[in-house]
Amino acid sequence: MERAHPQMPEPAAAPSGSAGKKVFVKTYGCQMNVYDSQRMADALAADGYGPTEIMEEADLILLNTCHIREKAAEKVYSALGRLRQLKEERALAGRETLIGVAGCVAQAEGEEIIRRSPAVDLVIGPQTYHRLASAVTRARGGEKVVETEYAIEDKFEHLPALQRKAVRARGVTAFLTVQEGCDKFCTFCVVPYTRGSEVSRPVVQIVAEAERLAEAGVREITLLGQNVNAWHGAGPDGSEWGLGQLLFRLAEIPGIARLRYTTSHPRDMDDALIAAHRDLGTLMPYLHLPVQSGSDRILKAMNRRHTAADYLRLIDRIRAARPDIAMSGDFIVGFPGETDADFEDTMRLIKEVTYAQAFSFKYSPRPGTPGADLEFQVSEAVKDERLQKLQALLSRQQSAFAASLVGRDMELLLEKPGRMPGQRVGRSPWLQPVIVDETAGEIGDIVNVRITQAGSNSLFAEIGVPA
Ligand code: 5AD
Ligand code: SF4
Repeated sequence: MERAHPQMPEPAAAPSGSAGKKVFVKTYGCQMNVYDSQRMADALAADGYGPTEIMEEADLILLNTCHIREKAAEKVYSALGRLRQLKEERALAGRETLIGVAGCVAQAEGEEIIRRSPAVDLVIGPQTYHRLASAVTRARGGEKVVETEYAIEDKFEHLPALQRKAVRARGVTAFLTVQEGCDKFCTFCVVPYTRGSEVSRPVVQIVAEAERLAEAGVREITLLGQNVNAWHGAGPDGSEWGLGQLLFRLAEIPGIARLRYTTSHPRDMDDALIAAHRDLGTLMPYLHLPVQSGSDRILKAMNRRHTAADYLRLIDRIRAARPDIAMSGDFIVGFPGETDADFEDTMRLIKEVTYAQAFSFKYSPRPGTPGADLEFQVSEAVKDERLQKLQALLSRQQSAFAASLVGRDMELLLEKPGRMPGQRVGRSPWLQPVIVDETAGEIGDIVNVRITQAGSNSLFAEIGVPA
């Protein structure tokens, strides 16, 4: 689900020559980038760069980029074209502007970015964000900096700790990256190349960060990882923990009322994690479990290493454990070799599962991935047609799910003021925004409501009677 641009933290005491300077961070792509942008802003704040939401007044403009599909990567280059102009105009007025590219495009393209866009001063990959402040200092000295080597040290340990003030400014829900990278090598995906192999953060580090979030008023934490359910970290007792066990530990932290995790791979849904869905009320009944395709032939070509039937059996087990769980997924249409019959298999699978929410994409060949070299690439026109059909079905399912909640009582986490005066926006257990009167409670409260109406993007509720 897309989230608003992260709120930037206020600067800490400003040392070095960057005092009084401002940084603007633009985030593209996934939730992990949202988390990374916040951590980068924290790291720069410790170095004297205050945050700004206004690009034109920034001394440092940082694009945190996404490489997952061609469109996402191209967006970066067109943004850089506009930034070059801004940089030149400001240079005429005697002000220096540094331009940095971070994220997965930085990792994938490295120096090529500076060759294509000479206005860029700094390219930094996701594995080296703890070196961001020193890279910016070097760039300020006139060096063109490219930092895309995988660091051996643990970047999380070297990033400055979360600042309570910054977390407060960001609200009552937060992301926490517990795992990064991927060893699965699905043949369409750049992630194993841009984010590297799987790394899991240790339990103590995660718990400490979650405690800091809770102390700053966070009530709901979403654990992030490219393959989050493959997380397996060293426990405080030296034994190896899985995600299920970690969720139970995080649920003990005072103040933490809700937990979620994303994104998962079907192969890594182990028994302990399914049991957590059954036994841990804090774990919300919503699961993003991408399947990509419903055709065994295509699943094999994608190297997903499971069949459609395996996936359906898994969903049955998850639903047996937590009957009210709502499913979310990702789909790709037009993978090389996909026939009409393969596509119909995907439609059938969707009908069988019924999704509350889903993301679907046309296959986009990514340089360096095995899929890009496959024969029988599907034409754009066919991809368009399939995507339209698939999205129509998914959108009907999404509306039906929202409509099924009308009349239901549920708990809402009040998240922020509504657009209209007198309103608050809360979040349902199923991740939908719900609009309710502000007298329902304070931001951060969990309140009982009854859903009265389902709109196209949000639900409406009246204040309910406490259970
Ligand atoms: N083309 C289209 N969609 C892709 N995804 C990943 N790589 C590609 C690609 N090359 C989609 C998958 C994944 C989601 C994050 O993005 O559905 O689950
Ligand atoms: Fe990409 Fe996810 Fe497959 Fe890993 S599991 S290669 S991140 S799609």
